[in-house]
Amino acid sequence: MKHLLKLADLSAEEIMSVLNLADQLKYERKNNIEHHHLKGKQLGMIFTKSSTRTRVSFEVGMNELGGNALFLSGNDLQLGRGEPIKDTARVLSRFLDGIMIRTFKQSDVEELAEYGSIPVINGLTDYCHPCQVLADLMTIREYKGSFRGLKLCFIGDGNNMANSLIVGGIKMGMEVAIACPDGYRPDPDVCAWAQKEGKLLITSDIQAAAENADAVYTDVWASMGQEAEKAEREKVFKHYCVDEGVMAAAKPDAMVLHCLPAHRGEEITEEVFEAHAAEIFDEAENRLHAQKAVLVKLLK
Ligand code: CP
Ligand code: NVA
Repeated sequence: MKHLLKLADLSAEEIMSVLNLADQLKYERKNNIEHHHLKGKQLGMIFTKSSTRTRVSFEVGMNELGGNALFLSGNDLQLGRGEPIKDTARVLSRFLDGIMIRTFKQSDVEELAEYGSIPVINGLTDYCHPCQVLADLMTIREYKGSFRGLKLCFIGDGNNMANSLIVGGIKMGMEVAIACPDGYRPDPDVCAWAQKEGKLLITSDIQAAAENADAVYTDVWASMGQEAEKAEREKVFKHYCVDEGVMAAAKPDAMVLHCLPAHRGEEITEEVFEAHAAEIFDEAENRLHAQKAVLVKLLK
């Protein structure tokens, strides 16, 4: 593992190994066992989109590992004034030990990795969100014990979350079902890959996707960068809501996951969200542990 650009680049064994290390780091943190694996290491964090969880968990994670993190706002970097990614990559590689980047285009993240000489971690693009899905997989295994025989259902936009959940879910051997409106399907290459590798259902039938699911996942109807489409999307996604009807179709002990931030009354009801808040906030906490594992794997 040289970078974390997308989950498709990782083998099932590499993902499992990150999850195992994440569990260990979570245990050590809980028991106050020092784990300064990255003493003196510097992580740069480039953000051209907003963030609560990703920013705080990476910064705290680096500190807990004995290193340091620098918040680099896209607007304040010369990048925001047109300095090319390939030059930014070569400059930052002289100062830092790793870069985390959250931005729009996946190709920008790939270019940063290509021209830089240090590990690059994708903290979300329009295409995928691998760090989130590592935390999601960790949470599913925590609650369900293993991935064997599980069905993961995602209801909503075929967005960055859907793309990464399909790849991560299939690689871990789960059956994945996506309910989304036609015209809002996940990336066609991701779907084609998944259909070849495992069990993937893509449908506009919410009940069919949720049927017998062990984990029900949802995300916002309009992602960062899609603000102008908000009104249109509210119409298209009106029925794509995780509500009691969806939960009745899923297994009685189904867990609910949400990457957050959540829009209650849109993709999830207040009632379902609060009934499953324990899982959802464990999932948010697990961002810290999963990313610390990625940082140790890449920067140590
Ligand atoms: N889930 C997630 O990535 O949250 P932030 O946008 O707050 O980082
Ligand atoms: N799909 C959402 C995920 C936020 C964590 C977005 O890209 O805004």
